[in-house]
Amino acid sequence: MYAKPNVVVLTGAGVSAESGLKTFRDNNGLWEQHKVEEVATPQAFSANPALVYRFYNDRRAQLADGAIKPNAAHLALAQLEKALGEQLTLITQNVDNLHERAGSTRVLHMHGELLSSRCTGSGHRQVCTVAFDRKTRCQCCAEPRPLRPDIVWFGETPLHMDTIIMALSRADIFIAIGTSGDVYPAAGFVQLASESGAKTVELNLAAGTNQRYFDEAIEGPASEVVPAYVHQIITAFNDK
Ligand code: APR
Repeated sequence: MYAKPNVVVLTGAGVSAESGLKTFRDNNGLWEQHKVEEVATPQAFSANPALVYRFYNDRRAQLADGAIKPNAAHLALAQLEKALGEQLTLITQNVDNLHERAGSTRVLHMHGELLSSRCTGSGHRQVCTVAFDRKTRCQCCAEPRPLRPDIVWFGETPLHMDTIIMALSRADIFIAIGTSGDVYPAAGFVQLASESGAKTVELNLAAGTNQRYFDEAIEGPASEVVPAYVHQIITAFNDK
């Protein structure tokens, strides 16, 4: 048996597309009918908080729709966690909970989570599965402040970056799945992994903007190409 490799996986909206969640850039640049700057910037939140609260309340409610379920790609990545244990780092740019529902237990949500709220005073995060607006106050501090969606908006700093950079520096294999390669810092992870000597693979429906930085690219729907690639990794260290 070969030693288990250190694998870092980065997922984007494409991994959840076949579960029925829209990607960001495949719909004329609109996310669920909205321009990104109307709903996903601190400026939008200041200018029109009601719209921003409503937008994320709708997205949160959508996750409770029974039709939205993890697909074969999420399930394969949960299987990879079982096989590799702590030697898998799963990073997602997605704010949905489909990796967790598939069985992944250590997901780094670098762009935040729909099922979480954040105190605008202290930054305290907590699980939140219901709708909220600016009248909903966080009770974590002496002076209750409004809650905001726990989403990293454009211009804000992504989460878990120290853990991510450390994992990339140790990676033997880096796999980017269903992400356009347009948004940094995630789009630059392939170069960091390459500099650390990792083999880099893109699994995507169509070439991402940063495809030239990958050693290998496999194009196809995530529900097909991800289970096949995960099977390949698992059999490589189980064989012999
Ligand atoms: N299987 C695999 N890939 C797919 C599928 C599918 N079924 N459907 C679409 N894709 C691919 C597209 O080809 C595209 O490359 O998924 C990618 C989706 O790209 P984006 O919509 O740009 O999503 P993502 O890369 O996750 O966006 C990054 O931008 O708006 C911000 O914060 C938001 O996290 C998001 C970030």
